[in-house]
Parts: sequence; structure tokens; C-alpha cells
Amino acid sequence: MRLLNQHALVTGASSGIGQAIAYRFAREGARVTVAGNEAKALAETVQTIITSGGEAIAVETDVRSKADIERMVAKAIAAFGPIDTLINSAGVCKPAPFLEIEEADWDLHLDINLKGTFLSAQAVAKEMSKRGSGSIIHISSVNGLAAEADQVHYNASKAGINSLTMSMALELAPLGIRVNGICPGFIHTRLTKPLIDNPQAIEPYLKTIPMGRVGLPEEIAAAALFLASDDSTYMTGHSMVVDGGQFIKLS
Ligand SMILES: NC(=O)c1ccc[n+]([C@@H]2O[C@H](COP(=O)([O-])OP(=O)(O)OC[C@H]3O[C@@H](n4cnc5c(N)ncnc54)[C@H](O)[C@@H]3O)[C@@H](O)[C@H]2O)c1
Repeated sequence: MRLLNQHALVTGASSGIGQAIAYRFAREGARVTVAGNEAKALAETVQTIITSGGEAIAVETDVRSKADIERMVAKAIAAFGPIDTLINSAGVCKPAPFLEIEEADWDLHLDINLKGTFLSAQAVAKEMSKRGSGSIIHISSVNGLAAEADQVHYNASKAGINSLTMSMALELAPLGIRVNGICPGFIHTRLTKPLIDNPQAIEPYLKTIPMGRVGLPEEIAAAALFLASDDSTYMTGHSMVVDGGQFIKLS
């Protein structure tokens, strides 16, 4: 067990990538605070971890709200003590052509994806700085490194996260806190299900991925485990691409 007796807080943990990280970290011995805005799914995630012999609590949180974030951190610490690892996985993606993006859609993406990541990271980093250690992991996207059509707001929010990763790493390194990101490619979650379920759309899309397949949330959880563990103690400020080779392909 690589995270025995550690405490991990995962936002967006009631589904998809965040949930896979919560499950993997619990299997590796961590006590897990699962946070997010879907109460029923959070409770089910906690139940699954407990049934498997792990320890977890759920904290309903809207990552856009500073008050919610402060409550989330306080509840997490009250339950399981100091936080060793924060994973920011809460996010939304609602594609729309650039010319049709409403101001509300822009705000939704920037508020949940970027501001939510900032608020959680700042609140947890304040706590980690008291002990002089910790690992913060932002779930970004390859869309933060290159452009995908119909996702201008999403792309911008993820590029902002990659910048946040570097900027935070710079200021927090002297405090003993490492900050890294993961840029997943196309991962099988409910976010991508509409495309995966459409054979006419998914077949040409798979040709853009050298490995020729969609990734699994568990494959992102494995990268998060590396960044949370002592195997990455000299890494900070890096955004790790996990995408089956999609980003390197010119043709
Ligand atoms: N699936 C992919 O292909 C892919 C690729 C790159 C990056 N990502 C990123 O991975 C992360 C997880 O996405 P996913 O694919 O697992 O989809 P998902 O929809 O299963 O997960 C998103 C999670 O965020 C939570 N969330 C949404 N708004 C919230 C809010 N206001 N407050 C708190 N929680 C909120 C949801 O409850 C959900 O659990 C996202 O940041 C997404 O951008 C996904």
C-alpha cells in the first residue's frame, strides 16, 4: 500500500476520473474525503469504499463557493486529520461553437474549472503550509495545451489550470508543497459518453489517437497515485500528459 495512513481529499469524486482516484487511493491505504456537488452519488462512492474495507467521508461542496470550500476543508481535517494530497477533479465541459457561447456558459466553465481549482488549492495549501508538506494535483486536460473546436471556454479554463500549476509550484515549493497537473486525453466517462456512443463520431475520432482506443479513468488514477506518492518527490510544476499519444500526432 503506497498511501498507508495518508489523507487524500478529492473534488469531483462522485463520478468518472475523480471517483476512480478516490477508489484507487483508498485501496492504497489512504483515508479519502470525497467532495462534490452530487450528494447521492457521493454517498454511494463512500459506501463502496467502506464496503471494500477503506475509510471515506462525503462532503457536499460546490467548488465555486469559497464558504463551501472552507467548510469542506474543515470537515475533512476534523474527520481524518491533516491533508496529504488534494486532487482537483471537479469540472464541466459543455461544447458550443465560439460564436454561440453565452456569457453564462463562459462563467460556468471558468468558475467551476478554474476558480474552483484555485479556491480548493488555496484553502488546502494554507493548511499544508502549517506542516510544510503536501501534494496538490490538478486534473487539467490536453485541451489546456492545444485547441479543440467548440470548446473555447473549456480550453481557456484548462490552459488557466496549467498556468496555475506552474505559478503555485513556484510559490509553494519553499513551503514543502508540490503542485502538479495531469492532462488527460480522451477518457471514458459520462463527459465523453455521447461521443463514445455515436459510432459515426467515435470511429474517426479514435484515428487521432495513436494507441487507437479511449483511456480509462483508472489510467488517470494511476498517474495521480504517482504524483501523490514518494515516487515523484522531485517533481513540481509539471503537467503530465496521459492521452494514448493523441497530443504528439500531426497526421
Ligand atoms: N473525460 C475526459 O475525457 C477528460 C479529459 C480531460 C480532462 N477531463 C477532466 O477530468 C475531470 C473529471 O471529469 P470526468 O470526465 O470524470 O467527468 P464527470 O462529469 O464524471 O466528473 C466531473 C465531476 O465534477 C463534479 N462537479 C461538477 N461541477 C461541480 C461543482 N460546481 N462543484 C463540485 N463538484 C462539481 C461532478 O459532480 C462530477 O463528479 C474534469 O475536470 C474534466 O475536465 C476529463
